[in-house]
Amino acid sequence: MARPKITVVGAGNVGGTVAQRLAEKNCYDVVLVDVVEGIPQGKALDLVQAGPICGYESKVVGTNGYEETGGSSLAVITSGVPRKPGMSRDELLATNAKIVSGVVRELTKRSPDVILVLVTNPLDAMTYVAHKVSGFPKQRVVGMAGVLDAARFRSFIAAELGVPAVDIEAMVLGGHGDTMVPLLRYTTVAGRPLAECLPKVRLDALVQRTRDGGAEIVNLLKAGSAFYAPSAATVEMVEAILKDQKKVLPCAARCDGEYGIQGLFVGVPAKLGRGGVERIIEYELTREEQAALQGSVKAVRELCLAVDRLLGA
Ligand code: NAI
Ligand code: 2OP
Repeated sequence: MARPKITVVGAGNVGGTVAQRLAEKNCYDVVLVDVVEGIPQGKALDLVQAGPICGYESKVVGTNGYEETGGSSLAVITSGVPRKPGMSRDELLATNAKIVSGVVRELTKRSPDVILVLVTNPLDAMTYVAHKVSGFPKQRVVGMAGVLDAARFRSFIAAELGVPAVDIEAMVLGGHGDTMVPLLRYTTVAGRPLAECLPKVRLDALVQRTRDGGAEIVNLLKAGSAFYAPSAATVEMVEAILKDQKKVLPCAARCDGEYGIQGLFVGVPAKLGRGGVERIIEYELTREEQAALQGSVKAVRELCLAVDRLLGA
């Protein structure tokens, strides 16, 4: 049986690691695209040569063009510039909107049925760009952030309590930025509500560390941003879609009335399956949680208005 073809655009830290994780699954063929000559070709060759050692036979092709991407089932878009220490994700808007628009045009010309998974920052706004430029049904455009933010929250809780992170379930809503909303009431430790496990002052500190999770790594690395956890989060979404797993994961999905949000891509719990975003799940929120979510939506809306001005509404 033919393996689904996945295109990964951007062969940098996140894209290269996504390609590696996908190749290691041994059930997809991967096309890696970048504007820099030699990088995607070199990384693809390196990944193919790891196959005999790791026991996979995935085809991995690197290219600076789009011919090889034709017929992709799914494309992960990581192309763009990452932030530098002291920079916010939002400062990347104009540069990355231009890059993502061009990439989406090229991809969709050759793969009209592709599902687009966005990673480039500012994430919620770039997902909005991809939807706008592709003209695709909203189900086929989705952004990765909530899985990463929830994983960070889970790892911080695990370290604090000395329990395995896999025993912790967490849900983070809102935009991928300083206003993200880790939902304490829906966070559990082996089924027990987190709020019963820690005093408020510790809970607040863990929430803040999660909000600052990306910046903490940028400050340590000095050049570039996180990529191991981001690539793992992306691949979890890719597999949920292509393997039709129907997993409910926090993703940037287009809301048209859900949670009172109109016409924006914002982090919400979404059921992912072969159709892409098959359903947005509406959790009951307290007035306080709803207000925090709306605060985050406001920040995303401002960026999307800037996108409209950049691309022409
Ligand atoms: P990177 O700089 O290592 O890689 C980006 C790659 O994109 C480079 O190789 C560059 O040559 C390529 N590129 C630039 N313009 C291109 C174009 N027009 N076509 C094809 N390729 C192009 O950056 P990294 O660390 O891989 O991050 C990529 C993006 O993902 C950044 O915007 C970063 O902020 C974002 N990010 C988002 C996360 C999320 O949770 N949504 C998590 C981690 C990173
Ligand atoms: C992160 O959260 C930079 O958005 C990226 O690590």
